[in-house]
This record gives sequence, structure tokens and C-alpha cells, in this order.
Amino acid sequence: MGRITLENVSKVFGANPAQAIELISQGKRKAEVAQACGAVVGLRDISFDVHEGEILILMGLSGSGKSTLLRCMNRLVEPTVGRILVDDVDVTKLGRKELLAFRQKAFGMVFQHFALLPNRTILSNVGFGLEIKNVPAKQRIDAAMRAIELVGLKGWESKYPSELSGGMQQRAGLARALAADADILLMDEAFSALDPLIRRDMQAELRELQRSLKKTIVFVSHDLDEAVALGGRIVLMKDGEVVQIGQPEDVVARPATEYVRRFVEHIDLAAVMRAAQVADRDAIVLAPTDTVAEARLRTVAGGSDGWLVADGAGRFVGRVRAERLAAARVGETVASLLDLDPGVVAAEARLDAVLPQVATSGAVAVVAEDGRLIGPITSRDVVRALAARPGNPSQTQPTGAERWTGTSPNSPSTRSATTPSTGSPSMAAG
Ligand SMILES: Nc1ncnc2c1ncn2[C@@H]1O[C@H](COP(=O)(O)OP(=O)(O)OP(=O)(O)O)[C@@H](O)[C@H]1O
Ligand SMILES: [Mg+2]
Repeated sequence: MGRITLENVSKVFGANPAQAIELISQGKRKAEVAQACGAVVGLRDISFDVHEGEILILMGLSGSGKSTLLRCMNRLVEPTVGRILVDDVDVTKLGRKELLAFRQKAFGMVFQHFALLPNRTILSNVGFGLEIKNVPAKQRIDAAMRAIELVGLKGWESKYPSELSGGMQQRAGLARALAADADILLMDEAFSALDPLIRRDMQAELRELQRSLKKTIVFVSHDLDEAVALGGRIVLMKDGEVVQIGQPEDVVARPATEYVRRFVEHIDLAAVMRAAQVADRDAIVLAPTDTVAEARLRTVAGGSDGWLVADGAGRFVGRVRAERLAAARVGETVASLLDLDPGVVAAEARLDAVLPQVATSGAVAVVAEDGRLIGPITSRDVVRALAARPGNPSQTQPTGAERWTGTSPNSPSTRSATTPSTGSPSMAAG
């Protein structure tokens, strides 16, 4: 369980909600609605799916509607119109009692301020949700202890919240949400109050937990680096609307609007770009059956210290060094000249993880899961990728790096940034 479907959800605060909804259906935006009838549009006609088992990050500036959207998912905030389905249950149709039961069963929540009860131990805080549900003591304590262990707080269960650091209190908050064993976790700026280093740890741990426990997590953040660290799809919001949904690398490579571009402007590109996006897909690729003469002819332009080799089906075979090819006898074939350990990276590898390998071996081969060669990455490709931010002037002008490496004029300078990625689909909404 854990799939959430939002269908045309709008939320209006304040006066004249009916008129505001009518204006929204006519296509009016937040500012126009406010001017026309004074109502505050919290959410404006939002439709998308949260996939089961994913970690989805709601991002956007303050006031863009992140918390409102998160809270609509379990109706802590009532949507004014629209439908919200959790698997097959239409949450918007539940009566009050059913809603309370469903909320407890399906959702765990973690907030920025940990909201632990000060006069209860960590164990008792973590088991609190189960206590409300009248779960028998033994079962409750077992579940609470399991959650406490999961978040690394074993040994602290009989302490009081004030005896724990902020990071530990947030772990306890997370444990409380996990103890109830709900399939969906809703987390609103859960790590924002933590010190940067502790915050990093928590992000990494949450990611691990999410993978091993297969929770569906919706996480509100306005920190893009956090979104990247959590490693899920991003939903970018503005004025109550969804502006773009996609993996960070897709959003960076193809921002849907100027707002999105500015939002991702300062992102660490190396942390979001994937090897497949950076690989030089137009590089010369040799065949193992090429003779030395043929290979020399194909690489006559030179300028590289080696070439990759792929078979007739496009599968990666190996790498030939330029000096090896130069020294080979004419009768040999490429197959007999291959390097023994060419550097290979997966298409999905993040660029920052690939950099050390590129730095030491000069080039790596990017290979798809099915063994197909995508292309090489050299330091030149890395510089090009990092310099070419979509929407920047460098996209249309040759970068300094290209001028001094003498790249041919027909190789587009931003190829790596504009090539469709092999990653997950992205979509623009709103
Ligand atoms: N209870 C409320 N009454 C009136 N307006 C509200 C209420 N809650 C939210 N809003 C308005 O709805 C819009 C979205 O608010 P929301 O709190 O969802 O933004 P947010 O993206 O979570 O911002 P932040 O990053 O500051 O937490 C804002 O214009 C806000 O003023
Ligand atoms: Mg908020």
C-alpha cells in the first residue's frame, strides 16, 4: 500500500471559496483570485501520483503551498475541491471516524519540531501512537523498541527528550512515525532544525530506511541539496501550483520555466547529473574486428589518447590506447589490442562518483545495464557538462574549455546537458 493519487485538488483559504474555485476553473492564478475576491489560493488544481515506495520531495519557496499539499494528503487540511485516493480508498469521502482510523493506519507524520512529550521517556513517546490505538503493552513496547533500533537510538529508550540532542530528538520523532508501521510517511521540513552535519546523516539514513522498509515518503523541503541527497523525484511548487515534476537531473537539464531554472541555478550539478547524460555519444567507437589499418584510418583526426570498442550489437568490448594502436602491426585486429581493465561506469552513476575515475584514468566508458556502450567520459566532457547550465549563455556560446581543447565546431557545446537522459520520465504539470 502507499500509492497516492491527487485529482484536481484545490484549497482556498478565507472568504468566498466558491467564487475562488470558479475563478480557478476559469484559469485564474493565485494573484488574480486574491485581487478578484480576496481569497487565498493555497493549492490550485493539482493532479499527480505519488508512486508506491518512492520518496517524493515537495519543493518551492515559502508560501508556495508545500505544507498545505502535504496536509491535504491525510486531510489535516481539507481540500476545497478535488479527490485524493490512497490506493483504492477515496480519502475525501471518508466520514470523521473512518478518517481518523484511516489516518492512523496509513500515515505517519514527522514535523520540523519534534513534538515529543517532555514528561514521557523516549520509549513511551515512540509507542504513544500505538497506545492511543489501544495496542497491548507488550506488543507496543516491542514495536517501539524495533523503531528505536532502526533509527539508531538503542540505549536511549529510558531517557527523557530533554536529555537528547536535537538530532536525537528528531530520530525519536522518526521512530514514533515508524513504530505505527504505516506505509506512508509525511515529513514536513523534518530535518530543517538540525545542524548541517547531522542533517546529512539523517538524510542518508532516511534514504536507507526508505529502501529497506519500502515506505512511501512525501518529504517537504526547500533545500535542493536535501532533495538531491534524498534521491527521489522532486515536485516544484509555485503559488499553489505544481510547476514541474521529475528526477533532479531532469529538472536541472530541462527546467520547465524560468522559476524552476532559477530555483536549480545553484545546485551542485555533479551531484545530480548521471554518467549517461555526460557521456560523449558521438565519440568514435571501434569494432573488435577492425584491422589496425582500418582503425588508424577512422581515428586519423587524433586528439584522443584512446578509443572505446563495441561489437556489432553495440555492446561494450573494451578500450584501445592510442599508443598501442600506433605501435601495432598492420595485420592485427583491434580485438588483440584491448586494455585489460578499461574503466567502466554505470549509466545511472552520478557524475561526482565518476570524477575520481576520470581524473586517474583519463577516460571511462559509460555502459548501460544491458551492456550497451553509451560513450566515453573524458575530463573534457566533464568540464563541458558542468559549464553548460541550461539557460546560461554558455549554452549557446563555446565555453573556454572547448576553445582550448579544439573541439570541432559541429559538436554542440551542450550536447551532454540536452541529450534526453535514459532516466525516469519527467513531466510538466500545472
Ligand atoms: N490556515 C491558513 N489560513 C490562511 N491562509 C493559509 C493557511 N495556511 C496556509 N495559508 C496560505 O496558503 C499558502 C501556502 O501556504 P503553505 O504553508 O502551504 O506554504 P509552504 O510552501 O509550506 O511555505 P513554508 O516554506 O513557509 O512552510 C500561503 O499563501 C499561505 O499564506
Ligand atoms: Mg510549510
